[in-house]
Amino acid sequence: MNRSVALCPLDQLKEGRALGFDPFRSGNDTVFALLHRGEVRVYRNSCPHLDVRLEYRKNRFLSADGQRVICYAHGAQFMPDSGECVFGPCLGQSLTAFKFRCEEGLLLLCIDPFDQPIEVSRDAIGHI
Ligand code: FES
Repeated sequence: MNRSVALCPLDQLKEGRALGFDPFRSGNDTVFALLHRGEVRVYRNSCPHLDVRLEYRKNRFLSADGQRVICYAHGAQFMPDSGECVFGPCLGQSLTAFKFRCEEGLLLLCIDPFDQPIEVSRDAIGHI
């Protein structure tokens, strides 16, 4: 079983919202999680365009209708379920998804022996 770090109680995740986390105490939210159509996703908080954080303020990662992840630097839009950019300067690239598990009512970020989050390949998103 993978090592893990707790992000939040699962019931804090709500459809149409995303939550940022600083699991490694870097001083910034380096990871965010969302619930989309009943499925959880956890992504690195980094835009593939210029490797900057996505949100414009705490927990503001999504469009007003909750249907896209938005990079507020240049307006790139990403699908919440796949992380694929569907509009903007990084069209066709993807957010980096992280492996997680849900256990005893908690959302847990899986980490490797070096305390790094475990990336999920684009093809494996939704099958973790
Ligand atoms: S840095 Fe995200 S769209 Fe440019």
